[in-house]
Amino acid sequence: MAAALAVRGLAKRYGSVEALAGVDLEVREGELVGLLGPNGAGKSTLVKIACGLVRASRGSAEICGLAAGSREARRSVGYLAELFRFPGWYSADEVLQLHQQLTASTGGANERHELLRLVGLADARGRRVEEMSKGMQQRLGVAQALIGSPPLLLLDEPTSALDPVGRRTVRELLEELRSRGISVLLNSHLLSEIELVCDRVAILLRGRLVAEGSPAELARSRGVEIETDDGTRLFEGASREETPRLVGELVAAGRKVYGVRVLTSTLEETYLEAVGGETS
Ligand SMILES: Nc1ncnc2c1ncn2[C@@H]1O[C@H](COP(=O)(O)OP(=O)(O)OP(=O)(O)O)[C@@H](O)[C@H]1O
Ligand SMILES: [Mg+2]
Repeated sequence: MAAALAVRGLAKRYGSVEALAGVDLEVREGELVGLLGPNGAGKSTLVKIACGLVRASRGSAEICGLAAGSREARRSVGYLAELFRFPGWYSADEVLQLHQQLTASTGGANERHELLRLVGLADARGRRVEEMSKGMQQRLGVAQALIGSPPLLLLDEPTSALDPVGRRTVRELLEELRSRGISVLLNSHLLSEIELVCDRVAILLRGRLVAEGSPAELARSRGVEIETDDGTRLFEGASREETPRLVGELVAAGRKVYGVRVLTSTLEETYLEAVGGETS
């Protein structure tokens, strides 16, 4: 079965700017992948290539085995842009109606109703965009991306304007989508959010992938520190699971053990280490 998104050796140059310098990344079916990286790392460029808005300079991007940008591939993608603006005089329902027309969705009023409910806007279907808060508009944007039930969602910072409750609504929505087998690539700067919801995380830096793994793998154990009568010893790289064996060996060797500390790093620490404190 082809991956929902498969990117290989992807490169993009805008004049003298190298936005992507050869990236390999997969989003498998039903997987939720978070794409992290400082401003200008190339996250939006990767997503725009995947939905056919930007042409790659080198490499390939495939959606469910189809070349990104092709008509068939576009049909399989739902996209929420980083900076979007819906017409202010449209109601929530009309925005979705417009996008149903643009994507030739036959879902009708039922689909619109269900999507507004899903993003917590059921009571705002008649409200005009210009009367909505930024957070409401962003949730409407997520609903728009879901029109036509695409198997792959590309969400470029879908929670940047949301308050904590709105973020949780989107997080629960993402979990719901995952249970339906929908694949998601999520760009975000919110590490805690990525940690909570993503199966896998990829970190981009200046157009290159510098780290990849599950949040647990990236927030890995850094070692075990054991305090004995012979001083404190650091077992670098050892995991929590190895602690009983290490303590057992020390005791068997005649040492007295006074304390044990498992040293872990959070996703944030791993991120900061990977990007070297870079902000842009
Ligand atoms: N249309 C464009 N023309 C020229 N340069 C561009 C264009 N779009 C992006 N770039 C450059 O490509 C690089 C990657 O930009 P991109 O928007 O992909 O980064 P990003 O990781 O999404 O950043 P952010 O976190 O700020 O959204 C940046 O140096 C940016 O200035
Ligand atoms: Mg971006």
